[in-house]
Amino acid sequence: MAKVTLTVNGRTVSGDCEERTLLVHFIREKLGLTGTHVGCDTTQCGACVVHLDGKSVKSCTILAVQASGSSLTTIEGVAAGGELHPVQAAFNEHHGLQCGFCTPGMVMTAIDMISRHGGDLDEKTVRLELDGNICRCTGYHNIVKAVLSANEQMHGAARHAAE
Ligand code: FES
Ligand code: FES
Repeated sequence: MAKVTLTVNGRTVSGDCEERTLLVHFIREKLGLTGTHVGCDTTQCGACVVHLDGKSVKSCTILAVQASGSSLTTIEGVAAGGELHPVQAAFNEHHGLQCGFCTPGMVMTAIDMISRHGGDLDEKTVRLELDGNICRCTGYHNIVKAVLSANEQMHGAARHAAE
């Protein structure tokens, strides 16, 4: 057994697990944060995306012990003060989900994508960056619309002010 200590959504938590435990199973089973989904556990679907030290990672692809000492954000940690994160709100507004299974991973990937591109994001880049996130319901069109809309909302004001 190994002891894993992490900052999760701003709180320090510890738990014991087998050395072979995947981070996604630690998050769901030890921490009870079931918003992070397991769609494949072979690094294909992106349902398990979380942020580790601010970067999106597929939590089925690393061991919990490898993440020990890091700062982890899950889908449960992105809303603030009772308000949806702008990316969550955009998915809601643009109907970027149907069954919702892929949605936590899509939102976490989108937040990281928007942050890395600093507002300079177009449809082609969004589609390229969503390559690792699979949705079986929506056909992606409204997901792409939601990401572009959130990007505009989060970075548009600053860009327009600089113009
Ligand atoms: S569960 Fe991690 S990529 Fe599918
Ligand atoms: S909304 Fe159902 S898998 Fe994406």
